[in-house]
Amino acid sequence: MKLLTVQKCISCEAEYPSDEVLYTCKFCGSLIEVILTNLEELDGRDLSLKWRGRDRTMWRYSEVIPVEGNVVTLKEGGTPLYEAEKAALWAGVRKLYLKFEGMNPTGSFKDRGMSVGVSKAVALRKKVVVCASTGNTASSMAAYAAAAGLKSVVVVPKYDVAAGKLFQTVLHGAKTIQVVEGFDKALTMILSSTLGSESYILNSVNPWRIEGQKTLAYELWDDLRDSNYFVSIPVGNCGNISALWKGFKELQTLGIIRDLPRLIAVQAEGASPFVDMVNRGDEKLIPVEKPMTIASAIRIGRPVNWRKALRALKESEGLAEKVSDGLILEAQRVLASEVGVGVEPASAASLAGVKKLVDKGLLDKSSTVVCIATGHALKDPNIEIISKYLSPEIPIEEVLKSL
Ligand code: F0G
Repeated sequence: MKLLTVQKCISCEAEYPSDEVLYTCKFCGSLIEVILTNLEELDGRDLSLKWRGRDRTMWRYSEVIPVEGNVVTLKEGGTPLYEAEKAALWAGVRKLYLKFEGMNPTGSFKDRGMSVGVSKAVALRKKVVVCASTGNTASSMAAYAAAAGLKSVVVVPKYDVAAGKLFQTVLHGAKTIQVVEGFDKALTMILSSTLGSESYILNSVNPWRIEGQKTLAYELWDDLRDSNYFVSIPVGNCGNISALWKGFKELQTLGIIRDLPRLIAVQAEGASPFVDMVNRGDEKLIPVEKPMTIASAIRIGRPVNWRKALRALKESEGLAEKVSDGLILEAQRVLASEVGVGVEPASAASLAGVKKLVDKGLLDKSSTVVCIATGHALKDPNIEIISKYLSPEIPIEEVLKSL
């Protein structure tokens, strides 16, 4: 059965055809989402049986991914889920899993979205893909554009973009513009420029990217066959948490799951406009003008997808927490040296958030939590950590004795 889709405004519900290129509603200016209009007619039980026998990439779920024509893929998705006892012990919960999105082709979850987004760009006959980024979106888009034979242009903050991400971006051939003011300015620049009909924006305002990223939920269901857990996820521009929730809601519509997991949104203390809004209990996002955190991937003061994310958090009866850079680095160390999984600082925020919520008594110790480890440690080599732990040239016997 052919999947039918429509683009719909998240606020005034105006509808647009799927082949119309738009990022915001023409009437009210809100963001757009893709609705699968005949999802209810699909047989969830039949689908789940079909999916089980297929390769472990996100395209295992192709029946619910709205791409027409050729798919641009680097075999993204199918990332490992680890049970991490040491991390559970550190955070203080009964069971903790780590979904390691750093194992995607370019080392972050962005690849799921880019596979769909760049496929859509090709279907629309675009020649150039464009984005603003703190690094991971840029490197992912550059790789998928290269795979599709498209040109790519990215705008990134001039300071503190992680070296690995910048290297990937230029290596894959993206023209790279740096702006002094940081990510929020870079995104404003992209959204307010006249880009011409050949260019296509692939930030998370693009609703088709979210369609790729929602497969994270399908995979968690596949991994755990249960929905009685929390999912802790680092939040920057609020795109991924919105995508995750969309996936879970679709699984419910398909009759594959009955209950929905609960979300935990985590931001860094110096860049926490979303978490602060949730915990104030209002619906007014107060932007952070100069966001600061060591987790450069989520150094964002004006998250564009906040309305979608707020809806998700409310529907899931979720929690929101902000964490210090110190706690982020401690969580990163625990994952690396006690679990064996190397993640970048933004990704470690998901685990740090769980510990803080347990310590504050807001998350029950008997909980099962899945932490989304959004990006690989190699993305963001930390020179200070490297030099702190290096030993001078001393005999190996001495080092062994000191262990
Ligand atoms: N974790 C990592 C490693 C990221 O790169 C990002 C976002 C997030 C979490 C937050 O996801 O923005 O959907 O809420 N990185 C973007 C980028 C902003 O440009 O690479 P979000």
